[in-house]
Amino acid sequence: MRQQWVMGNWKMNGNHQEIKSLVQGMLVDIPPTLNCAIFPAFPYLSYAGELIQNSSLHMGAQNVYPQASGAYTGEVSGPMLKDTGCRFVLVGHSERRQLFKENEKIVAEKFHHVKEHGMIPVLCVGETQKEREDGLTEDVLLAQINSILEEAPRAFSQSIIAYEPVWAIGTGKTASPEQAQETHAFIRSIVAKASEQDAGALPILYGGSVNENNASALFAKPDIDGGLVGGASLNAQKFVEIIKCIN
Ligand code: PGA
Repeated sequence: MRQQWVMGNWKMNGNHQEIKSLVQGMLVDIPPTLNCAIFPAFPYLSYAGELIQNSSLHMGAQNVYPQASGAYTGEVSGPMLKDTGCRFVLVGHSERRQLFKENEKIVAEKFHHVKEHGMIPVLCVGETQKEREDGLTEDVLLAQINSILEEAPRAFSQSIIAYEPVWAIGTGKTASPEQAQETHAFIRSIVAKASEQDAGALPILYGGSVNENNASALFAKPDIDGGLVGGASLNAQKFVEIIKCIN
């Protein structure tokens, strides 16, 4: 049985006060048997880690630099994230790819670095509106996933993929459950070419304007194993409602 997860990507939002009330709001109502993680901004990882201690919530980071330590001013390493209590790290989010010009090479380095340091990478993949219109969705996904597999055919054991069509992120437009299911099945088939076993066990989350109204139809699809949630994860009540849609 594959694990299902709902993950909240808080992006560059929050302060001590807001994080405290958000986490407290979530903890009141979160079903302890469901898998759920929050991804606060770097300065708040330790604080959020303390707030979720002895709870069923897990924590991840939004980014990493793929060196253990050294003269890399302004960057944060895998061992540092592990030390603050992170279990997951987002890698290759479309905002990193687009705004910070991260290419397949650096995304792959980050992915392998996260695994090397005992955490679980959540690889974000997805096509832009233009790429979808030009019929390039499958080519884009193949390139994004194969660049990880090139170096290590078993890369996706103990990993997570989040399919986030770029046109659906923060726009209020969601892929239909059928559209998302079809793409998730395609992603799983790419991984299966390297390892059937890893493909079978790999959680593939959907992301892009997931909310409390569309989550249950998406999560009901056989290859959609939960969600990576941005905007709606900043509201405790909405986020808990989304978590409860895991079947
Ligand atoms: P959104 O963001 O839910 O606000 O669309 C998702 C994400 O960027 O991970």
